[in-house]
Amino acid sequence: MKILGIETSCDETAAAVVEDGKKLLSNAVLSSMDLHAAYGGVVPEIAARSHIEAITPVIEQALSDANCTWDDIDAIAVTYGAGLGGSLLVGVMTARTLAITKNKPLYAVNHVEGHIYVNFITETSLDGYTLPTAQPQFPLLGLIVSGGHSQIVIWKDHFDYQLLGQTHDDAIGEAFDKVAKLIGLPYPGGPSVSKKALEGDALALPFPKSRLQNKYDYSFSGIKTAVLRTAQGLVGADHTLSSLELPKRLTEAQKADIAASFQRIAVETVVDKVIMAFEEFQPKSVVIGGGVAASPELRKQLAERLPIEIQYTDPKLCTDNGAMIATLGYFHANLSQPTADPYSLTIAPNLSM
Ligand code: KG4
Ligand code: ZN
Repeated sequence: MKILGIETSCDETAAAVVEDGKKLLSNAVLSSMDLHAAYGGVVPEIAARSHIEAITPVIEQALSDANCTWDDIDAIAVTYGAGLGGSLLVGVMTARTLAITKNKPLYAVNHVEGHIYVNFITETSLDGYTLPTAQPQFPLLGLIVSGGHSQIVIWKDHFDYQLLGQTHDDAIGEAFDKVAKLIGLPYPGGPSVSKKALEGDALALPFPKSRLQNKYDYSFSGIKTAVLRTAQGLVGADHTLSSLELPKRLTEAQKADIAASFQRIAVETVVDKVIMAFEEFQPKSVVIGGGVAASPELRKQLAERLPIEIQYTDPKLCTDNGAMIATLGYFHANLSQPTADPYSLTIAPNLSM
């Protein structure tokens, strides 16, 4: 069964074909990230307009890379939430139109679940992908860490899951992006903070870890403010100094210590939850999804503290892509989940798990 997955929830216009929920046949992604870099974050209107221009060529690319015609496609899966409204609309309207005109079943897929399901891809004939050798097993503990999402979820089986915890404010990737901006590092902040952290001392600055009523929830607003106050203190100013002044007044060594100390605590915050959930639920597999899965610090801390090994998927599949949607779409189709009505499917920007 071949599924075409369409993803437009943020700044990546993406489409992919996946066979039987495990074989990656194509993965076409066009990012508008360069257009957003100047603003230090994704600008929703720019993202939506870029999707309109890119969506048809990206879908055609996905079909041609997979050596497929429309006759070969068994169903279409599309992200209907969570995400930016204008961006989601482009993908959903395109998928609805194609489902009607090409006469294909349509599945509405949750983006956040997709980040976990991409780990079910174990085969490809495409060059340049390093994939897990086996599919995850249930019970499955999933950590979703991206620019827009931070969730920890336990799956007993397909479509039978419980959200254990989530952030009360910023997603972890968003916290990296904001701290990067504070200390004058380029967007996206995750990779630039990681890089700067290599020159710094992760124990130099004592940033706080959040504690919330639900032991699996967390928050990054406290550490973000702590980074701001610490940076103001390091340059000899008080809390009235504008954050815009910080990048030029901090030394490179101070920036590196902030990056390293922030990264250690932010990552420890989520790893603490993973370890607690592992002990409570004894999962057979632990999988990580989302852009922050690329973080070397996250991988290091998990390797040090988790008793089982995590099989990471290729970095190209950690960030937003159509393959994650196609893979989850396959399980929708194969496990008789309801199809979406192509005449009425609407977007769900705040869709939760
Ligand atoms: O999954 P993704 O591509 O988009 C969303 O759905 O949000 O994740 C992007 C996020 C950004 O916030 C970026 O800063 C973060 O992933 N990221 C990292 C690293 N690489 C990317 N965060 C920490 N360390 C990294 N090495
Ligand atoms: Zn995402």
